[in-house]
Amino acid sequence: MTIQDQVTQWQLELADKSPQSIIKFALTQYPNAAISFSGAEDVVLIDMAVKSKLPFKVFSLDTGRLHAETYRFIETVRTHYGIDIEICFPEAQAVSEMVNKKGLFSFYQDDHKECCGIRKVAPLRKRLSQANAWMTGQRKDQSPSTRNSVPVVQVDTAFTGADGELVKFNPLANWSSEEVWMYIRALEVPYNPLHEKGFISIGCEPCTRPVLPNQHEREGRWWWEEATQKECGLHSGNLEAR
Ligand code: ADX
Ligand code: SF4
Repeated sequence: MTIQDQVTQWQLELADKSPQSIIKFALTQYPNAAISFSGAEDVVLIDMAVKSKLPFKVFSLDTGRLHAETYRFIETVRTHYGIDIEICFPEAQAVSEMVNKKGLFSFYQDDHKECCGIRKVAPLRKRLSQANAWMTGQRKDQSPSTRNSVPVVQVDTAFTGADGELVKFNPLANWSSEEVWMYIRALEVPYNPLHEKGFISIGCEPCTRPVLPNQHEREGRWWWEEATQKECGLHSGNLEAR
């Protein structure tokens, strides 16, 4: 059976399952599966993984441009759960060549692709080359234009895993923001204090702003660009099917 056939079968089996069951399934199939933690409400993946009592790994991509609150929050999560969080850094030379040539805010002129490519996508590619499976906090409701068909499990065709194939789990795909926040409040899960300041979606500091009432959360990300471009390359597979 090809990996695609296997994953298609899992998609049918897991489509209606809870995020907790999907996480358990992922960690049972792939004991080295890594949670990709952005320092936002995807903390619920960590809470659920801890409660599964199965071994798991967590990594965060430190772009060098996260909010001070996010750095502190990542540390809070590390100590609260007593877990290791691997911090992945970009290549120093690539960052310095870019900022010394174009300044520290080139993304406002050029668009965000070059900077995200260096600060997020390349470090993610390196980290995933040691994995067979990873887990993200992507949800369908996060972006009607790019994420409305995110499945709970998929073959990741954008990156290559340790043995070539790479499987990507999105255990929260079918949850709404409301369900995520009910979970956080009910179980007293620690959360990023930026959420108390009007931020819903949280990325890098220069590229994220709070949203107004009734604005969609994605409108606070790369707000100077077209809605259809608002993927940074971590999840570029979402754009391929368009
Ligand atoms: S992004 O592609 O637009 O930046 P978003 O902020 O919506 O992504 O987060 C979706 C998921 O991508 C997160 O739940 C997380 O799994 C992963 N992710 C995003 N940013 C990071 C980061 N800096 N480090 C690790 N994972 C991240
Ligand atoms: Fe650079 Fe902004 Fe992308 Fe962060 S979100 S890596 S600062 S362009």
